[in-house]
Amino acid sequence: MNHLFLHCRSGFEKECAAEITEMAGVVGIYGYSKVKDNSAYVLFITHEEDGAMRLHKELRFRQFIFTRQWFVTQAAVTDLPVTDRVTPLLAMAEAYPAAHELVVETVDTNDGKELSGLSKKFTAPFSQALRRKKILIEKSQWNLHLVFISGTEAYLGISLINNSSAWPMGIPRLRLPKDAPSRSTLKLEEAWHHFIPAVEWDQRLACSMRAVDLGSAPGGWTWQLVQRGMFVEAVDNGPMDQKLMDTGQVQHRLTDGFLFEPKKNVDWLVCDIVDKPARVSALIIKWFSKGFCREAVFNLKLPMKQRYLEVKKCEQRILGELESLGFTATVQFKQLYHDREEVTGHLRVY
Ligand SMILES: C[S@@+](CC[C@H](N)C(=O)[O-])C[C@H]1O[C@@H](n2cnc3c(N)ncnc32)[C@H](O)[C@@H]1O
Repeated sequence: MNHLFLHCRSGFEKECAAEITEMAGVVGIYGYSKVKDNSAYVLFITHEEDGAMRLHKELRFRQFIFTRQWFVTQAAVTDLPVTDRVTPLLAMAEAYPAAHELVVETVDTNDGKELSGLSKKFTAPFSQALRRKKILIEKSQWNLHLVFISGTEAYLGISLINNSSAWPMGIPRLRLPKDAPSRSTLKLEEAWHHFIPAVEWDQRLACSMRAVDLGSAPGGWTWQLVQRGMFVEAVDNGPMDQKLMDTGQVQHRLTDGFLFEPKKNVDWLVCDIVDKPARVSALIIKWFSKGFCREAVFNLKLPMKQRYLEVKKCEQRILGELESLGFTATVQFKQLYHDREEVTGHLRVY
């Protein structure tokens, strides 16, 4: 079990590989990545036999930016007989600890989508066979993952439930609310699910809080804030959705988000302005260093090259500058499912 299977956004395999290589090096476990462009997954193969399991236990899944989901596995099973895929996969599953649930996944590509029918059909009979063998049991800290790469090739492995994504493939099932003004509303909702534990929503996304939304038009992110009962200053030269304005909870400021400053400090800053990552980072630093807000969600549009390096640079700059000003801050980045050529950041000071 010296393989880690890492799901990522198609086209971001190199960033995912750079990240796992760096993180593994930090804990002194070495290996190499197998990367195929636009495959939406990376294999990290450790030199030590138990290296993948050690990495899975020692690294925190929440720290990954480009990995959506991960599990410990071994080389792919190939030549699966199409008439009986259960028997060889069952034999393989016996090498793993008993798991709580079988999670059947595909890779997030068009080829992967074509295999979703097979995955769905296979789930029930394979789960039954696993239960008969007591490989699936009620009480276990593990999930068993199965990813079909083709009809005859698959990876089978395990993840710790409390150190992996709660969603298959790391893709949350969020429904686009029918009255939200834009699809990007889902980005902010996903960010909250990712960065804020559900038990803290009532306290940290509370009714009557005040927020500023920079680059707000037409209002998808503002809509989420309004749904939580917040009062929002929406900053954008573009028009805001009229129904959202009719709630009475939104004030539209037709001005430049880089120049706008709130008259009173607010609880939340959200920022979806598409600009250079360094410029947006500087804007975020300004807001926190002046005490305008205590928590923020913001997007960084990534350059074409050296995208991993760019995010790490922004992270270090934000943390470094705030710490030098005496703040205790936490910053996290994630390429969310609803992000395209960007990552979402979350910053909080205490
Ligand atoms: C990706 S859209 C925001 C979408 C919005 N978050 C939503 O959910 O509907 C980016 C917005 O940033 C605005 N924008 C770009 N530069 C800006 C600036 N300097 N100040 C304020 N808004 C800006 C654009 O007008 C555009 O409406």
